[in-house]
Amino acid sequence: MALLNLNVLLTLLLGVDRTQKHLNFTELTQLSGYKSEEHTVVTEDGYVLNMFRITRGAKCVGEIKQTPVFFMPPLLSAADTALEPGPNAAMPYLISDACYDIWVGNPRGTYYGRRHMRLDPDKNKEFWQFSMNEIGTYDVPAMVDYVLDNTKKEKLMYIGFSQGGGSFFVMCSERPDMCQKIKLMIGLAPATRLRNTKSVFLRTLCKNAEDNLDVFDRMQIWEVFGRDQVTAAVNGLFCRNNVKMCEWFVSLVDSSHPGSVASSTYKTMLERFPAGTSIRNLVHFSQGLRNKKFVKFNHGTEKNLKVYGHPNPPEYNLTAADLPILLITGRNDAVVDVKDVKWLARKLPELKEFLIVEDPMWNHVDMFYSKFIKDMIFPKILNYLLRYNEN
Ligand SMILES: *[C@@H]1O[C@H](CO)[C@@H](O)[C@H](O)[C@H]1NC(C)=O
Ligand SMILES: *[C@@H]1O[C@H](CO)[C@@H](O)[C@H](O)[C@H]1NC(C)=O
Repeated sequence: MALLNLNVLLTLLLGVDRTQKHLNFTELTQLSGYKSEEHTVVTEDGYVLNMFRITRGAKCVGEIKQTPVFFMPPLLSAADTALEPGPNAAMPYLISDACYDIWVGNPRGTYYGRRHMRLDPDKNKEFWQFSMNEIGTYDVPAMVDYVLDNTKKEKLMYIGFSQGGGSFFVMCSERPDMCQKIKLMIGLAPATRLRNTKSVFLRTLCKNAEDNLDVFDRMQIWEVFGRDQVTAAVNGLFCRNNVKMCEWFVSLVDSSHPGSVASSTYKTMLERFPAGTSIRNLVHFSQGLRNKKFVKFNHGTEKNLKVYGHPNPPEYNLTAADLPILLITGRNDAVVDVKDVKWLARKLPELKEFLIVEDPMWNHVDMFYSKFIKDMIFPKILNYLLRYNEN
């Protein structure tokens, strides 16, 4: 009864139907004529993650290509977000239209990764003691192995955006055997070292998480920006009613690229973003924003000695990512700066190409949400997928 009243109240205040559910990955894809499936993966350390697969694109004619493609979303995003610009624009749709078997993963802590075999995310601090380190060490390997088992293939092609790219390099460093199962890696503005990040918003956010870690801990707050229906409705409403406001807000987080994201995308994007993560993950990012290198979580000298046997956290071994890699980045990206991607590129032993998107206004948000993905970055991606499909 109380719940019903809250719904009525919110409907009156916000003018949205509170009983209306946001469509999930399979519902969204199927609505547009894409055949999709839902899978559940359990990581070695007990996290239960949903995974999604588009088995056949609406525009795919002919046979499905032999090598599966795995797509890993960025920080605070779940698989649905990857579909946001819609058919004819969003990466998973474009890839499945080109007849690839595409799988989209989810990191722990998002609304598709908020379950555990033993731990209760609402009660147990231990559930939230993770950062990109654990996403790369446990989540990505579990999902890669799942795809290979399910499809009976030996290798796949990996596409990762931002944290989805960074967690790939964590995997290669910490689980080099797993890295051998990847034919090709495409990193879209991959987040490794973040020293040159310009986004004041991101810096402030992560710094506050770091400075107040003890305060949050005392308040038993370990999760941030989880998607509950109320925030989703408020965010959604904010953007639905005022695209200009939404565009302005997004430009605060990243940089401005007027006209690149369709109004229809702005209207729905904040219903699914942010999808949640741990405060500890933001703290790891905060450390990364200062560091000259791409290093593991800094626990402080005393605990570092226990965990790493060294007062400082060790560097990830980027040399271990010894497979063909294509990096794509935008000049106007305020979150992952071109300089830091260049730094990464120099460390990779088998880098095939480092592409700076031709449009000088191309930013971070564009990699996921732009209506120009199909023209600006997809041709290059498709070219590489075709080249490595049968290799
Ligand atoms: C997505 O929606 C379908 C159909 O309503 C439902 O069966 C499925 O459980 C949902 N999946 C997730 C992960 O929420
Ligand atoms: C990094 O990985 C490479 C390739 O696997 C290996 O040869 C090298 O010894 C590793 N370096 C460190 C410091 O572990």
